Amino acid sequence: MWPETVAVTGAGSGIGRAVLVAAAARGARVAALDVDASAATAAAAAARAAGAADAVAVACDVSSEASVATAFAAVADAVGDPGAVFANAGIEVNAPVHAFPAADWERVVAVNLVGVFLTCREALRRLVDAGRGGSVVCTSSPAAFVGHSGGGNSAYAASKGGVSAFVRSAALDYAPHGIRVNAVVPGATDTAMLTAGGADPDRIRAAAATQVPLGRLGRPDEVAAAVLWLLSEESSYVTGSHLVCDGGLMAKSANDF
Ligand SMILES: NC(=O)c1ccc[n+]([C@@H]2O[C@H](COP(=O)([O-])OP(=O)(O)OC[C@H]3O[C@@H](n4cnc5c(N)ncnc54)[C@H](O)[C@@H]3O)[C@@H](O)[C@H]2O)c1
Repeated sequence: MWPETVAVTGAGSGIGRAVLVAAAARGARVAALDVDASAATAAAAAARAAGAADAVAVACDVSSEASVATAFAAVADAVGDPGAVFANAGIEVNAPVHAFPAADWERVVAVNLVGVFLTCREALRRLVDAGRGGSVVCTSSPAAFVGHSGGGNSAYAASKGGVSAFVRSAALDYAPHGIRVNAVVPGATDTAMLTAGGADPDRIRAAAATQVPLGRLGRPDEVAAAVLWLLSEESSYVTGSHLVCDGGLMAKSANDF
C-alpha cells in the first residue's frame, strides 16, 4: 500500500523536490519542508499540478529542534501525520581540514546529521503513536563510504557517514514497530548542490560525468524512483539498508590504469 501522506525535507530543490513531485503523482498528500520558504511553496505548487491529493509548504530549518517540531505539527494540521518521511535536506561546505573554520564544520554536521536525527525523531514519535508501521528514508552519499578525490570533504563525509550509521541503528530500534528505516545513496546528481560554489557549472558537470561508469550524471527523478520504492510497501522486507543509485560510481576501482 502506498502511504497516504509523505513529508520531505529539502523539498524545495533537487532530489527532495523530485521525490515530492513523484509522490504527488501517485496521488499522495505531500508536505514540502525547506529552510527556503519560497522554494517550498513552489515545490508544493508543482506537487499539486502533478496530482497530489493535497500539498502543503512548511518553512523548516532541520538543524533547529524547535523548527522541526513546529513544522511537523503544521504538517499534521494541514495534511495529517505522514506515514512516510524523506529526511533529505543537506548542505556541502568543503575545505582542507587544517583550514576548515569550526563554525562551518559544525554547520554541515548540524544540517546533515543532527537535522536527520531531529527529522527522524519527530517522524518516528508520530509513527510509533499511530501504530501502523511506516517508512523513513534518509539521504546518505558515496562520501559515507569512499573518499572524494575532489578533496576538502571531511565535514560532509563525516556527516553522511553518521547518517549511514544512524540508519542502521534506528532500523533495529523501530523494526519491532514495523517502521522501516533506510538510506538512499545518490551519486553525482544534477542538482544545485553539485555545482554550488563552482565558477563554471558546465565544466563541473562534464568533469563529474567522466567519472561515472554510465557516463553521465544522475537525474533527480532517477534518485526519486529509488526513494519512492523505499518509501512504499513495495520494499516491505527492506530495512537498515542502503540503496545505491550512482551510475556505478562506487563499484569502480580508482586504479583505472
Ligand atoms: N547532488 C548530488 O550529487 C548528491 C549526491 C549525494 C547526496 N546528495 C544529498 O542529497 C540531498 C539533497 O541534495 P540536492 O542534491 O537535491 O541539493 P539541493 O541543493 O538541490 O537541495 C537541497 C535542499 O535542502 C534545503 N536545505 C538546506 N539546508 C536546510 C535546512 N537547514 N533545513 C531545511 N532545508 C534545508 C535547501 O534549501 C535545498 O532546497 C542532500 O542531503 C545531499 O547531501 C546529493
